[in-house]
Amino acid sequence: MLLEKIESLLKEVSTLTASNADEIEQLRLKYLSKKGEINALMADFRNVAADQKKMVGVKINELKQLAINKINELKQQTETVESQKDDIDLTRTAYPIPLGTRHPLTIVKNEIIDIFRRMGFTLADGPEIDDDLHVFTKLNFAADHPARDMQDTFFIEQSANDVTKNVLLRSHTSGDQAHYMETHQPPIRIICPGRVYRNEAISARAHCFFHQVEGLYIDKNVSFTDLKQVLLTFAREMFGAETKIRLRPSYFPFTEPSAEMDISCFICGGEGCGFCKHTGWVEILGCGMVDPNVLEACGIDSKVYTGYAFGMGVERITNLKYRVSDLRMFSENDMRFLKEFEAAN
Ligand code: PHE
Repeated sequence: MLLEKIESLLKEVSTLTASNADEIEQLRLKYLSKKGEINALMADFRNVAADQKKMVGVKINELKQLAINKINELKQQTETVESQKDDIDLTRTAYPIPLGTRHPLTIVKNEIIDIFRRMGFTLADGPEIDDDLHVFTKLNFAADHPARDMQDTFFIEQSANDVTKNVLLRSHTSGDQAHYMETHQPPIRIICPGRVYRNEAISARAHCFFHQVEGLYIDKNVSFTDLKQVLLTFAREMFGAETKIRLRPSYFPFTEPSAEMDISCFICGGEGCGFCKHTGWVEILGCGMVDPNVLEACGIDSKVYTGYAFGMGVERITNLKYRVSDLRMFSENDMRFLKEFEAAN
């Protein structure tokens, strides 16, 4: 009788299954606890004939060992299933994830934006793929102006009979200002940062794309004095409090009068050195009073309002600040170069 019971328990135990820790605990209680099935066998064991005791004892031990092994095995199985469900890998070493650095052009662009924001300018942007109407026509470019020529501008679509409908990659962000003036009345005080494209042979000093920040201020009684003071403040914030500026007469279709602005060379302090080609000055931007034709073309009354505009290349400012000698480095993604700007972030 007892032997039969042991045999049937052996069979039962060898086929046990469980899917979680609770079920395993139930099995442990059923077979291995004090009041469990295996202990219960001991009561009958006392009645076993003396010459059979050894054999039956061995069988009971065999059953007990099998139950212990089986339950351990089930525990291991469910534990590995549980840990596979978990995404957190607690065995991973705690090395910090290496952080990237901001691109030097982004650092400088943000700095420029920040300076003008403190003077009350807000951000405006426009499309990189634009039409002739906004990039040239509304900005007072003569129909035969060379900037419209294939030499300078990347055209995407050329209209058969209406140049203003030509689709192109913008060659300056002044187009953003035309878009803004069409939809807003003065006072307007905006800066337009963005990427622009020109058909240039790629070299250390020129690229087919670069970045600009252009500014526009239109209100009643805006004068050249306002422009000069804003640009002086910008130059001092950007290049240091000792910086001087100089405006040279220039020409742009959309401004009249127009000027090119130089800053005193911050390397030699204006004494003259190799960097400023011994002139004491370095050129940084173009500017001027917005031509009344531009205001009228964009729906602003030029008898009531006046304004100024300026535009600078972010690469140029970055080159001056960090003395990057080759423009191509900005778009080559060389980690050794980009890592140099870690501290400037
Ligand atoms: N749009 C001019 C350029 O791309 C820069 C500029 C802007 C000059 C505004 C004067 C006034 O070269």
